[in-house]
Amino acid sequence: MQNLLFGSNFFAAMYLVATVLFIFGLKGLSSPKTALRGNAFSMMGMAIAVGVTLLNPEVRSYTWIVAGLAAGAVVGVTVALKIQMTAMPQLVAALHSFVGLSAVLVAAGTYYTHGAAGGEADAVLMTEIAAGSFIGALTFTGSLIAFAKLQELMGSAPLVFRGQHWLNLALGLAMLAFGGHFIATHSMVSFWIMTGIAFLLGFLLVLPIGGADMPVVVSMLNSYSGWAAAATGFTLSNNLLITTGALVGSSGAILSYIMCKAMNRSFISVILGGFGVEASAAAAAGPGKAIKSASAEDVAFMLGNSSKVIIVPGYGMAVAQAQHAIKEVFEILHEKGVECKFAIHPVAGRMPGHMNVLLAESDIPYDVVFEMDEINGDFSSTDVVLVIGANDVVNPAAKTDKTSPLYGMPILDCYKAKQIFVSKRSMKPGYAGVDNALFYYDNCTLVFGDAKVTCEKLAGALREE
Ligand code: TAP
Repeated sequence: MQNLLFGSNFFAAMYLVATVLFIFGLKGLSSPKTALRGNAFSMMGMAIAVGVTLLNPEVRSYTWIVAGLAAGAVVGVTVALKIQMTAMPQLVAALHSFVGLSAVLVAAGTYYTHGAAGGEADAVLMTEIAAGSFIGALTFTGSLIAFAKLQELMGSAPLVFRGQHWLNLALGLAMLAFGGHFIATHSMVSFWIMTGIAFLLGFLLVLPIGGADMPVVVSMLNSYSGWAAAATGFTLSNNLLITTGALVGSSGAILSYIMCKAMNRSFISVILGGFGVEASAAAAAGPGKAIKSASAEDVAFMLGNSSKVIIVPGYGMAVAQAQHAIKEVFEILHEKGVECKFAIHPVAGRMPGHMNVLLAESDIPYDVVFEMDEINGDFSSTDVVLVIGANDVVNPAAKTDKTSPLYGMPILDCYKAKQIFVSKRSMKPGYAGVDNALFYYDNCTLVFGDAKVTCEKLAGALREE
């Protein structure tokens, strides 16, 4: 009866449905307008995937599955309820590390069941075990370093030392050699040496990536975690895990490529652990250089008397949760007949689309929100640029200072506007840890204080005008 109802065709068909739903989900996530629908498709796909897998006659006992689901649900729900929006990227990095570690554990488990001394595993299965283990191990430790950098448990500056790339190359070759030996001989020692080297390489490849390049690394690790899952799918002969892993792997790789292009970084150099990164010192905090500061009321006066305004949100807007107050400023300016647009840098904030999500949350119309390439030409004809908690993404040192870790990264060309106001709390640098040359420009004025409070004051003063 069970075989009639749930034969292999049933599983194949349901897995196909789940895969198609995942593809629709990814498509939906490509725009803030369709993101909710995309998430709903993905959740349906996942529900089908999990439900159908549980019906598989190969599942012999539900005890461990239920225990794992319960433990995972407790951790997942607790984390989801507690996590701040601004801490999402480090959560994602931590989750990637789990995927990596589970790929290693599945590979080791399969090896001990089918591949160890006298086991029936053929060369194909042994190759799958090796690939799952080393991709998983790299993903695990690389994600731990990414987590530590994003959580600011360690400095975001690139950690480089002489001979680093040769060491990585030698380790990479040794890992492949032990992997080859493992596949040929089923040697347990080779398996663990290969996996140990991969753990070490994960650390070494992410340590040299500096703060400004972390977005690419996070999406790269996302991609690796997908390939680790796909390798696990081969090991477990689970087609859905193969297709889902491949979807995550390839979409992560495409995202990394897009980010590298947006940030003018070489894709290959980032995968190879910051190849070409020089040990550039973070520029000192501009001793002796003069800055100007103003009150929110002064800024409101300037805003109210301009005809073209661009608002540039950054990570500080997310920290302050200032998006609703900014919406109010936008609405008042709109009512006063001031043309007001938003400019989004591809790596503003701490995750792809971070700023778009927050602006969408406060119902700012999509048609006034522009990507960097669309709006960069407008700054020179803009009266006032209001920078709310953005720093690295508006730093002109990226264009002028070859020693800056930001050098080469395209920026929002705010400095070309007639007047720039920057809302931040102190003279502390942004994520890349470097001083911002913009703050010392003649046309730039700082407005010190929490971004939400500043925007509320701006809205109040604009209403009174
Ligand atoms: P950052 O360069 O990180 O600067 C954020 C600014 O916000 C800081 O100057 C900070 O100054 C200010 N700030 C923080 N809390 C504030 C508050 N409550 N009120 C007002 N200001 C506040 O931000 P960005 O320009 O958006 O650049 C993003 C950086 O993160 C880039 O280097 C990027 O490479 C990196 N990164 C991005 C991602 C993705 S995918 N987007 C992922 C990882 C890393 P004060 O402390 O003085 O207030």
